[in-house]
Amino acid sequence: MCSVHPFLRSTGACKSRKSVRPAYIGHVVKRRLQNLGELVNSAQLVSPGRQLDLSPDISRRAARPFLKWAGGKHKLLSQLIPRCPASFTCYYEPFLGGGALFFGLSPGQAVLSDANDELITAFQAVRDRPDDVINYLRRHRNQKAHFLQVRRRDPHTMDGAARAARLVFLNRTCYNGLYRVNRGGQFNTPFGRYKRPNICNAATIHEASVALQGTTISTLDFRTA
Ligand SMILES: C[S@@+](CC[C@H](N)C(=O)[O-])C[C@H]1O[C@@H](n2cnc3c(N)ncnc32)[C@H](O)[C@@H]1O
Repeated sequence: MCSVHPFLRSTGACKSRKSVRPAYIGHVVKRRLQNLGELVNSAQLVSPGRQLDLSPDISRRAARPFLKWAGGKHKLLSQLIPRCPASFTCYYEPFLGGGALFFGLSPGQAVLSDANDELITAFQAVRDRPDDVINYLRRHRNQKAHFLQVRRRDPHTMDGAARAARLVFLNRTCYNGLYRVNRGGQFNTPFGRYKRPNICNAATIHEASVALQGTTISTLDFRTA
């Protein structure tokens, strides 16, 4: 539907948040150190001699999207990341989508936005209440009748974490992970008939939450972002 335009500007204008869960840091650091090695190698292959700024907050590096998203850039990361500035203070992403590039960089300070309010609510809940999102997700089942019931619910009447879990559940179990709404704004992608979809990936949600600490996340059209 659109292309990605990540704006990387050197500014210290971002807010910082402090509620990182220590229990997950060890696991996250280990996995991100592995990913970090891959990123450095990839940067050196494309641009010999160039160095990524690895010094600030290494624990934030390289989470992954908790949603499948049409047009997501996950498979292009090895080409995109070496083309990003070697160091910057704040990452700006006005077409967040699944956030593949954001998570690939996991930059710490970031201003993230998208026109899709459902998506933004989910990112805010994963940032602020990952355990609640996970607990709500565990209640969902890959059954068509349940899917249709959840799809019918008005997300605006739901608690933020439940609303995020609803989106993740629908995303994991609907046809091709497609986000589609009718003219009334109601989600209308059909049931996907996956045999064993990974509805609740707690590690991915926790890692995403760690990466999202220190970010501001808003529903905005890119023209006003
Ligand atoms: C392909 S996805 C972005 C992928 C993402 N940047 C990544 O790294 O994987 C495009 C996103 O742009 C958003 N979008 C479309 N029109 C927009 C607009 N006018 N303003 C802001 N976001 C918009 C969509 O909601 C969608 O989530």
